[in-house]
Amino acid sequence: MGWNSWNHFAERIDDKTVRAQADAMVESGLKDAGYVYINIDDTWEGQRDLKGWIQPNQKFPNMKALADYVHGKGLKLGIYSSPGAKTCAGYEGSLGHEAQDAETYAEWGIDYLKYDWCQPAGSLEDLKAAYAKMRDALNKTGRPIVLTLCEYGWHKVWEWGAAVGGNQWRTTGDISDQYRAMAEIGFNQNGLEKFAGPGHWNDPDMLEVGNGGMTEDEYRTHFSLWAILAAPLIAGNDLTTMTPYTEAMLADREIIAVDQDPLGKQGFRVAQQGPFEVWMKPMADGSKVVGLFNRQRTSEQMTVRFSEIGIAQAAEIRDLWVKKTLGTFADAFSAYVPAHGVVLVRIQAK
Ligand code: GLA
Repeated sequence: MGWNSWNHFAERIDDKTVRAQADAMVESGLKDAGYVYINIDDTWEGQRDLKGWIQPNQKFPNMKALADYVHGKGLKLGIYSSPGAKTCAGYEGSLGHEAQDAETYAEWGIDYLKYDWCQPAGSLEDLKAAYAKMRDALNKTGRPIVLTLCEYGWHKVWEWGAAVGGNQWRTTGDISDQYRAMAEIGFNQNGLEKFAGPGHWNDPDMLEVGNGGMTEDEYRTHFSLWAILAAPLIAGNDLTTMTPYTEAMLADREIIAVDQDPLGKQGFRVAQQGPFEVWMKPMADGSKVVGLFNRQRTSEQMTVRFSEIGIAQAAEIRDLWVKKTLGTFADAFSAYVPAHGVVLVRIQAK
């Protein structure tokens, strides 16, 4: 769990802004809710010196001091690079300097690296070799650094991402702050559940919650779906200007508990009728979290039958967004689901 600069700030990111986001993460209570990483995405990179050591550009005068500042708040700092000569935004990549860059990150105090392909697809072997090379370089530094593979899901990265050192891997192209784009990515994750687990996660991309392009119900769908998917929760909004609605959503303990459940199971679809999808995530305590997702533009009543989620008896139901235990139900549960919205419940067999 953490925050990343790209979705909101893109290239308008600098030292001052990163510090302000770290401050806001603590002050807003998001740190207490479990968010840890403050991740700088693309456009921090400057030139290499004569010996090939990467320098930050003028937006980041002192990366080590920035890491110290972030660590001083009890948070961790993430950075970004690419295995090619250039990053996606055209800045200096790590090609030919992998060991030097890993050493530099370790020496600055970096805790997380997003390693973004940013080149024509290439062969499976090319991809694997490039990521394994950076994994080896990071391991050699002796500093634990989370490694995120970003190659948009090419060559079924979920099948080999963990073997080349990935702690998580993007399964898709870039998200954007619109319901259609978010839903297309999120609902397409079905089937990838067997590749995720503690230490190696599918990553359907960073959150857009709070960036303004979706309705409240649509953002609730986004956050609920990412929680059911056990996806990395990397906020992508400006933490210094959150509305109370955004802040409450990102900090919601019950939804975060779904995402971060220790069993580490990624949820999946158990039933679908056109735009109505029922998803389920098995939880460590034996309960099942169920999302009734309505992808159409008008509200509709939806039902989950307990037989669809492996429960053969009566069960108690709690509505996780409404924060209300609804009572015991015999063999099914129905609810009105708003347009583009979700009803998220936790179901415990009695
Ligand atoms: C790619 C990635 C994005 C972001 C940009 C930065 O598009 O998929 O998440 O990192 O590059 O240039």
